Amino acid sequence: MIRKCTGADFDSILDVINDSAIAYKGHIPEDCWHEPYMTREYLQNEIDARVEFWAYEEGGLIVGVMGIQDVQDVTLFRHAYVRTASRNRGVGGKLIERLGGLASRPVLVGTWKAATWAIRFYEKHGFRLVDEETKDALLKKYWTIPERQVDTSVVLVQQGSEHLKE
Ligand SMILES: CC(C)(COP(=O)(O)OP(=O)(O)OC[C@H]1O[C@@H](n2cnc3c(N)ncnc32)[C@H](O)[C@@H]1OP(=O)(O)O)[C@@H](O)C(=O)NCCC(=O)NCCS
Repeated sequence: MIRKCTGADFDSILDVINDSAIAYKGHIPEDCWHEPYMTREYLQNEIDARVEFWAYEEGGLIVGVMGIQDVQDVTLFRHAYVRTASRNRGVGGKLIERLGGLASRPVLVGTWKAATWAIRFYEKHGFRLVDEETKDALLKKYWTIPERQVDTSVVLVQQGSEHLKE
């Protein structure tokens, strides 16, 4: 079942993200890795910034989450995480398809350059990588992330929205 998260899901969202984000360890630059990957404060800030989380629930347990955030004239998909034990059986795919149905603006997604599995996942769902220069401009315009993360990230745009430039 896919449903919108409520305040009562806060701890579960955090748990899914920190379980899932272990995938980054040893892949993303060492100075970008910290444990837990996401703190309560960071998650709260994201929710305060109107990232709306959706959950994939199985037997009462949230096994995957994905956020959607409208920023200026675009929609960002944020924080796509599926529990380590629940990967590769379509949970992420169903979440991204559901969120796709909610977006009425061009959709952008950002991830670590090193997260090749995530890039493949987004490409499979109709997103295309933008070039380095466009990536820098889009990250600075629509995201609030540190300079170091801009350098070590990529941006993908939904097919049909490739016209998006600074
Ligand atoms: C990226 C991520 C969210 C994808 O979630 P997921 O639930 O594993 O995604 P899916 O199962 O829909 O698709 C992943 C693969 O499983 C395959 N798959 C889907 N359903 C399947 C099934 N029933 N049986 C076998 N394989 C299946 C897909 O074809 C896909 O294969 P591919 O990678 O060879 O193309 C997940 O890998 C994750 O949480 N990673 C760690 C955190 C991360 O990188 N997040 C993204 C950055 S924001």
